[in-house]
Amino acid sequence: MKVLVINGSPRNIGVTAKTLHVIEKELIDFGVDVEFVELGNINMSHCIGCCSCYTTGQCHIDDDAEELSKKIAKADGIVLGSPTYASNVSGIMKDFIDRGHFVIEQLLHGKYCVTVATGENYGNKDTLKVLNNLVLYSGGRLSDSVLIKAPFNDASGVEEMVNAKGKKAARKLFYGIGKKSFLPIQSLCHFIIFNFGIRSFVQKKGKKYSGVVKKWEAMGIC
Ligand SMILES: Cc1cc2nc3c(=O)[nH]c(=O)nc-3n(C[C@H](O)[C@H](O)[C@H](O)COP(=O)(O)O)c2cc1C
Repeated sequence: MKVLVINGSPRNIGVTAKTLHVIEKELIDFGVDVEFVELGNINMSHCIGCCSCYTTGQCHIDDDAEELSKKIAKADGIVLGSPTYASNVSGIMKDFIDRGHFVIEQLLHGKYCVTVATGENYGNKDTLKVLNNLVLYSGGRLSDSVLIKAPFNDASGVEEMVNAKGKKAARKLFYGIGKKSFLPIQSLCHFIIFNFGIRSFVQKKGKKYSGVVKKWEAMGIC
């Protein structure tokens, strides 16, 4: 069982990282093969909106973001964490969302996921919603969502909560993957989004989206 834990905070000592490390440790204790990725440390360019990936199946920018997307495609579980920046995900998380081939390509098809959003005031629910929608639209199965409210750069008062929520999320992810849990409401929502939104949109685009269709075929989606 392979799980990728992705920290979307540029700060590797912040409360987002702390929460993700609790999840990482719990998963390792379960015997899971875990890789922890700091988005702040990778070499990642912005998406330039050329859309060539829809035709070729890969981004023409051959950097760490492209490699990470390929790793996600091979993993069983994904943990995505982000701090709240202006009631949204961080800039580096948004860059990775744009570069990672998530939604149209259905990168998270059949993968179990946990989302983590932290914030100190208002807007962390918006951040969590962005991550949860990303999972749902990309074909993932959301095992748990973790919301942490803590003062900036001071997680001392929330350690107990971070430990409890992180461990619970790791357990849900581990058992979700192990039992291949069926999540009926998520599956129904995804069926509607994929078939009436994404699939019909891609079919109308014809050859321009041939790289996407090849990816779907390789995943057994169509
Ligand atoms: C540029 C910037 C914008 C922020 N905007 C918000 C915000 O809109 N709402 C909020 O609750 N916290 C906001 N914060 C606080 C962080 O989201 C919060 O402290 C978070 O837990 C930091 O995570 P980290 O310690 O993992 O980096 C902001 C922080 C920064 C640096």
